[in-house]
Amino acid sequence: MLTNYLYFLVNDQYKKLLKDEIKLKYPHFKICYSKNGLLTYKVDDIDVDIIFAHAYGNSIGMSNKSELTAKISSVRKKFSNKNVILNFHNCNDQDLQEQQDPQESALVLDVIKIDDDHFFLGIHPFGKYRTILNYHQSESKSESNPLPSRAYYKIKEALALSGEKINKKECVLDIGAAPGGISYFFLQHKLNVVAVDAAEMSPLCTSHKNFTHIALPLEKITDNHLSKYSFNWIVIDINLDPLYVVSTLKKLFNNEHCTNKPTNKLRGLFFTVKLTKNFTHSKIPTLLKNLTKLKLKLKIIYTRQLPSNKSEFMLYAIPI
Ligand SMILES: C[S@@+](CC[C@H](N)C(=O)[O-])C[C@H]1O[C@@H](n2cnc3c(N)ncnc32)[C@H](O)[C@@H]1O
Repeated sequence: MLTNYLYFLVNDQYKKLLKDEIKLKYPHFKICYSKNGLLTYKVDDIDVDIIFAHAYGNSIGMSNKSELTAKISSVRKKFSNKNVILNFHNCNDQDLQEQQDPQESALVLDVIKIDDDHFFLGIHPFGKYRTILNYHQSESKSESNPLPSRAYYKIKEALALSGEKINKKECVLDIGAAPGGISYFFLQHKLNVVAVDAAEMSPLCTSHKNFTHIALPLEKITDNHLSKYSFNWIVIDINLDPLYVVSTLKKLFNNEHCTNKPTNKLRGLFFTVKLTKNFTHSKIPTLLKNLTKLKLKLKIIYTRQLPSNKSEFMLYAIPI
């Protein structure tokens, strides 16, 4: 019996990714509503495991603008023993955003603007690797400086979701780095960046003293290129089949003869996994398995579509 309703927030242009994931994992769920990046489903099981939504949880329902404040108060009253954090979506009004870091036991009330007069409300338990609070995004979108690429936002959101703090002077291996949004993010935070990409990097990166560009494809990188570094972070954002990327990493990092291991101090790996005609949902489990078999000895922490992701999701893994 389908008696519950779940809501999912996706990048509207790529909602087919979520629909396909649900069809594969929960074929009996029934879609109820789809608008402006919001999808709701009638379900039996509310304990779902989803990659292609950047927020999801239990539906509360629709509200007119005039009733919104009263509706929010009634939800807060219902869960008065919990800290309820408001998280607005599709809404540029900065005054609406609450900027607080919730406790693990908090609830997140997602308020999604559908049009000028309609808002949808849904609630989910705050989770370290689950909740992307919107003030992280509104901060980023309000940065007015030119950026090399939108990938800047991807790494910013990915780090926020990981809960990790990066430290100045740490070293990043940025694979598939051009034009340089991700490299630039780390350079702005005073980390050292070694970028691997045959394509041209933005002058915002190349002019920086903490930046090194190895202008080669990943396949041509050997121990000799990397042995003088000690990487704390690896970021991969290549527009190639993810399974092929992992097999190339295997050749690079599984080399028994490599004496100085540039990954001895690795803290984490961020991998933008791009879906292609050949790499579809059904291949994700193989990718995760192959990645954890690398000698880097990685444990996968989250696999989530970020608000800035397109036909892709972010995978975050740390050494065991
Ligand atoms: C989505 S873009 C990366 C955006 C970049 N991370 C940023 O922050 O601006 C994908 C990149 O993958 C690079 N790429 C494709 N094949 C590659 C390979 N075999 N080795 C390294 N980079 C590759 C492309 O040159 C392209 O710059």
